[in-house]
Amino acid sequence: MAITLKSPREIELMRKAGGVVADVLSKLEEIAKPGVTTGRLNNVALQMTADVKAEALFKGVCSPYAKPPFPGAICTSINEQIVHGIPSEQVKLKEGDIMGIDFGIRLNGYCADAAVTLGIGEISKSNRRLMDVTKHALDIAIAKASPAIRWSEIALQMQRYVEAAGFSVVKEFVGHGIGRKMHEEPKVPNFVSDDLLSEDIYLTKGMVLAVEPMINAGTDGTMTLKDGWTVVTKDGRCSAHFEHTIAITENGCEVLTVG
Ligand code: MF3
Ligand code: CO
Repeated sequence: MAITLKSPREIELMRKAGGVVADVLSKLEEIAKPGVTTGRLNNVALQMTADVKAEALFKGVCSPYAKPPFPGAICTSINEQIVHGIPSEQVKLKEGDIMGIDFGIRLNGYCADAAVTLGIGEISKSNRRLMDVTKHALDIAIAKASPAIRWSEIALQMQRYVEAAGFSVVKEFVGHGIGRKMHEEPKVPNFVSDDLLSEDIYLTKGMVLAVEPMINAGTDGTMTLKDGWTVVTKDGRCSAHFEHTIAITENGCEVLTVG
């Protein structure tokens, strides 16, 4: 499978989609307070998506492991949940929770995908540090991404930084190329493996990648709940997730999922 490079015109369309994704995430960040349900956050995201005549990318996605298609427009992953938590009117946010919100749309044929982890009310120092380290791992990738660097060099720096902080990188889920479709080539792991080294890529101008480190406070083991979607840590400790869609430019990269 080939990596499709995007023209300046296509990147402009992805920048538009990315702006909407960022606006929705910052709106949800405003609303996410103790007592609010994740179902309510989902409804706000759906409404904002409809307002700009975009398509919510996650709603209806089928997974080989899950019988029901994903029901939400957003993923809401609380505390030990790593990714793909299902928003629900039954799930109320509590003081001290940390919640990953992941959201993606297609607008005028082009996709953008981003995620943030938020603290609900006052959170513990250790959860704050987990969130800060995860965000910084993404910032490392953004700072290094440029033409003629191999992805494995960036993945190595992210992994080293996270492990030196005493946390672990999730291995079962990785970032991805993005364009007309949410998931395109290449795979964008946040760690180095023999697999990555054997299919390593040089970044080039026009590549657009969704970079999304998922970092666990404890060990890197994951399991999926009976709902077929929610991925949790095996050891029950907390996890954080940040994601941006970035375009490789002449001399670096541009973050497309900004408001
Ligand atoms: N950001 C996630 C990803 O890139 C979101 C997928 S959620 C799903 O894979 F519901 F669409 F699967
Ligand atoms: Co993604």
